[in-house]
Amino acid sequence: MKINENYKKLEESYLFSTIAKKVNEYSAQHPDKKIIRLGIGDVTRPLCKSVVEALIKASNEMGTKEGFRGYGPEQGYDFLKEEIQKYYQKRNVELDIDEIFISDGAKSDLGNILDIFSKDNKVLIPDPVYPVYVDTNTMHGREIEFLKADKENNFLPMPENSHADIVYLCSPNNPTGAVYNRKQLETWVEWAKENNAIILFDSAYECFISDTNLPRSIYEIKGAKDCAIEFCSLSKTAGFTGTRLGYTIVPKNLVNEGMSLNKMWLRRQTTKFNGVPYIIQRGAQAVFTPEGQKEIMENINYYKENAKLIANTLKKHNIFFTGGLHSPYIWLECPNKMTSWEFFDFLLENSAVVGTPGAGFGKNGEGYFRLTSFGTYENTYEAMERVDKLLSDILKTVGV
Ligand code: MLT
Repeated sequence: MKINENYKKLEESYLFSTIAKKVNEYSAQHPDKKIIRLGIGDVTRPLCKSVVEALIKASNEMGTKEGFRGYGPEQGYDFLKEEIQKYYQKRNVELDIDEIFISDGAKSDLGNILDIFSKDNKVLIPDPVYPVYVDTNTMHGREIEFLKADKENNFLPMPENSHADIVYLCSPNNPTGAVYNRKQLETWVEWAKENNAIILFDSAYECFISDTNLPRSIYEIKGAKDCAIEFCSLSKTAGFTGTRLGYTIVPKNLVNEGMSLNKMWLRRQTTKFNGVPYIIQRGAQAVFTPEGQKEIMENINYYKENAKLIANTLKKHNIFFTGGLHSPYIWLECPNKMTSWEFFDFLLENSAVVGTPGAGFGKNGEGYFRLTSFGTYENTYEAMERVDKLLSDILKTVGV
């Protein structure tokens, strides 16, 4: 037996597992301390009423002879796909029902989609970025070129001269919160067509966009159905981190070497995946009803208030940051030129607040730090009081 040698190139554990381990150690040493977690982007608002009612109704149905269902279609039930189709229509995007695939989340699909691409493809990945893109390509042994995202380009890298076959774009971005505008995405679509490349567009945070001029889907850009696959999720939209449901759009226009990517993905999913439980799909359907939409927006606005609390604390101390406006994430420059892991330890040790070190998102994330607005208002408030005090103390020490 030979192992997949590519695993040797990975960090020992996944970013958020490393953080969880460190926090657990701290917690064991300081059992009296109240730790406030603004690290992993996990939601805290409970599932909304419409979703809960739909889950209960579907569970009851499953307990009856008439309503029981076994294996469903691997790519999802039409009742949910039709709702997603209508959701896109609101933004003038027409999708065929067979272009929509329901899954257990964007994270899995972002990794699994690589099954349909050759290992010889060159991949372009912005840095800093959601670590799943890099780790899953590393596991396959693909050549990766990084695109620098920094203050100069407002954390929104644009195509450079070099050729690549696959590019990952995440907008609103995890971790920086930056959002591509229409013009920028048009440039990316043009680049993809010129290079016969595919854009893997992660729109997991689209529902945080409140500026109607900013695109929420790559398909709002003309020609994108010829060169892009889109990944979305109800995790952040509707608090499905524990109930797992996402959707991926693979347009039928995507044909390469005579093979339809849509058919290849269907083949992959029907072989390796058995579908999301019926009950969960019924819960997801409720998200798209007018009542469900109203309820989820209340939660999103709640998180945006948390983001304002964080932003105000940073502004008070003149700390550079981005995000928080069309995104649940705030991306800040570490004070006192600390490295991102130094700041992680410093914050944990001195204020029992957990964030995510920028270096975990790539080389260019060094010196930066991510805080999420997904906590409760009370905890975010308390965390910001602690951070405010800590920052005042640091600034006093350095005599500012
Ligand atoms: C994050 O904190 O970046 C996300 O919660 C991770 C994820 O969605 O998998």
